Amino acid sequence: KRLVVLVSGSGTNLQALLDAIATAGAGAYGAEIVAVGADREGVEGLARAERAGIPTFVRKVKDYGSRAEWDAALAEAVAGHEPDLVVSAGFMKIVGKEFLARFGGRFVNTHPALLPSFPGAHGVRDALAYGARVTGCTVHFVDDGVDTGPIIAQGVVEVRDEDDESALHERIKEVERRLLVEVVGRLARNGYRIEGRKVVIQ
Ligand code: GRF
Repeated sequence: KRLVVLVSGSGTNLQALLDAIATAGAGAYGAEIVAVGADREGVEGLARAERAGIPTFVRKVKDYGSRAEWDAALAEAVAGHEPDLVVSAGFMKIVGKEFLARFGGRFVNTHPALLPSFPGAHGVRDALAYGARVTGCTVHFVDDGVDTGPIIAQGVVEVRDEDDESALHERIKEVERRLLVEVVGRLARNGYRIEGRKVVIQ
């Protein structure tokens, strides 16, 4: 299967996928990353792709006259690589109607909280501020809401009294990277069905 991965930052989730595929081999893993896209230049995630010899593309919102035009341009860039599955690994933009029309049902996101708790761009900070005793990460299909699509898998992480946002996020990311590698591989190898809120992986 062909994967396109979207990043906005350090790309450690992307790196986990790259390492898993390099270790297992694309055949055994069930997928290869054919391109990496970002919404901004110069992020470490793009550098990781370049080091792995994987084509990259950038589509910046401010380069377009409207959000809808950016969304269509992003969808076009992704479509050019003919992906079977698109993975948002720390991609910090909300895609729109055009993107979902083309990739809905095969667009996976990873979120650093136990959805439906703490959706949005500050899930780690919000869980900490709320005083949650456990939090974690969620891998889900993207729908037309923010972090509201059908959940595929979740991982639980204890919150420690001494945690600040970055310490907690790092501990979440250790679980998140393993969860994302496991889920993407299973989706790619086994195929899946989405039945309402349920995801059935064959
Ligand atoms: C991940 O925890 C992701 O869930 C969140 O931002 C982080 C991105 O990390 N949206 P990285 O860019 O994969 O290192």
